[in-house]
Formats: sequence, structure tokens, C-alpha cells
Amino acid sequence: MPKDKNKAHIIVVGNEKGGSGKSTTSMHVIVSLMKKGFNISVIDLDSRQKSLARYLENRLNYADKTGLDLAVPDVYVLSRSMEGDVDNMMYEDTKNFSELLDELHKESDFILIDCPGSDSNLSRLAHASADTLITPINDSFVDLDLLASVDPETYKVDRLSLYSEMVWDARKHRAMTDRGTIDWIVMRNRTSALDAKNKRRVNAALKELQQRISFRYVQGLGERVIYRELFPKGLTLVDYRDTNEKMTMSHVAARQEIRRLMGDLQLPEWETKDDMHEIPQSKAS
Ligand SMILES: Nc1ncnc2c1ncn2[C@@H]1O[C@H](COP(=O)(O)OP(=O)(O)OP(=O)(O)O)[C@@H](O)[C@H]1O
Ligand SMILES: [Mg+2]
Repeated sequence: MPKDKNKAHIIVVGNEKGGSGKSTTSMHVIVSLMKKGFNISVIDLDSRQKSLARYLENRLNYADKTGLDLAVPDVYVLSRSMEGDVDNMMYEDTKNFSELLDELHKESDFILIDCPGSDSNLSRLAHASADTLITPINDSFVDLDLLASVDPETYKVDRLSLYSEMVWDARKHRAMTDRGTIDWIVMRNRTSALDAKNKRRVNAALKELQQRISFRYVQGLGERVIYRELFPKGLTLVDYRDTNEKMTMSHVAARQEIRRLMGDLQLPEWETKDDMHEIPQSKAS
């Protein structure tokens, strides 16, 4: 899919459940894109936790400490308006958000927006601007509830969740404002080999659901300790091999998982661009 030269492709990573892997996924998508030489700007809408901004700060510090040439994008933390009046708040949020996007469109191939794990006006604006929406969900019926309430035996959808309704509104908004479409991708995160029965049932339910509420369901990431260990150094599995860290079989498998995910996202020009460099120069040497 060729990219409009004057407009960045907007990737939003969101759902309204805390801790499902939004920031971890964001970080891996960012570094994968940077490794192919794309210009990417990052917006962290989680202004309370700032996990993604902190992840990137750790990356800068680690690069400084080790002398490794780790690419770090510009990151903007956008805080919600503190206006007491609802109309004023909406106005201010909308203005701040669209001014920032206008600025970033000029300089970026991609803009990635990491959303907080709760509903907010800014998060709604982000969803309504998405070209690609990635929703990581954990491997259980509790997390499926984020999309719709599903009968666990028949997988029949009883009702859509508030989040799915919000994405539906965002899609209508896109269609009306610029005739754009949102490619909604639901990815499973933290799938475990241990509970095969549950895994199959969630799989079946998601397959059923993807037709009902029009998302693409992709395999996503397995449960791996390494994902939790990367944050303090600001590393990802994409650049792990280029550092002095030891690569195990599990890391290699996880790296393949990320590559598959990036392919599944079907982002513009992803397939046609090669990685810039597999082994970055160490500034120290
Ligand atoms: N595939 C995985 N395997 C193991 N741990 C994971 C995996 N994905 C994420 N985690 C861990 O789960 C925790 C929550 O992940 P993350 O911060 O990415 O979620 P989030 O959706 O951004 O959370 P929040 O809603 O609070 O912003 C982190 O400690 C992270 O390292
Ligand atoms: Mg987060």
C-alpha cells in the first residue's frame, strides 16, 4: 500500500483495559519501523504513567551508558485538558491534539499513539484519527469482554462492549470526515502453551467475533519473561541481537513472533523496505 507523501500513517494502540500489552507492543512496532529507516513520531497519551515515554527514556540512557547506536524517536506526552467545563475541555483537547498531529504529519512517515488503559477524550480523538488500530488482548474470556459479551459455549455475541461501540463511532467519524477507513487489528498477547483448551476456546470466539465487529484477528505475542525484562534498558527484541545481551532460543522465537506481527499489520511500504542495518556500530569502539 503506497503512502500519501504529505500525510503520516497513524497507528493507534489502544483498549480500555490496563496492562494488556499496549506499551510493550507500541515499543516493538516503533523500533521495527525505525530499523527499516522510517521516520516515526510517538505520542504517549498515558500522561499519568507515561510508560512508553519512560521506556524510551530508558533506551536513551542505556545507549548513553553502553555507547550502542540505538535509534530513539521523538516522543510527545499529551496531557488531557484540566478545564472544568466539559465543552471547554473538549475544545482544548481537540485543539491540542490536532495541532500536534498537523505538526507531526509534516515530518513523519508514521505516527504511533499509545493510549491509556481507560476511556478519555484524547483517547477517543486518537481512535478517530487511526489508519491502523491495534488492540492487544490477553488470552481469556475476561479480556474478550473488552470487545463483546460472548456466550462461552456457543460464542454467540450477546452485546457489544463500550469499547467496540467507541471504535464503531470512530469508524463512522473517519468515513464522514475524510472517507478514511480504520484497519482494526485485534492481537492476542501473552498466549501461553500451558492452557491449550482455553487458548482454543478464545481462538474460536475471536474468529466468530471478527466477522461480527469487523476486525482482523492476528496471532500476536506469547507469554515470555523477556518482555518484562526489556523495559529498564529500553530494549526490544528487534534490537536485542545488536546489543551485548545473550540471545537464547526463547529470544529467537520471540523475535520471529514480532516479525510475523509486523507482517500481519500490513503497514504501507513495510514489505518493500529492507532493514537498514542488522548490526549497528558501537559508538564506544
Ligand atoms: N507477551 C508478554 N509476556 C510477558 N509479559 C508481558 C507481555 N506483554 C506485556 N507484558 C508485561 O505486562 C505488563 C503490562 O504491559 P504493558 O505496560 O505493555 O501494558 P499496557 O496495556 O500498556 O498497560 P497500561 O494499560 O497500564 O498502559 C508489563 O510488565 C509488561 O512487561
Ligand atoms: Mg501502557
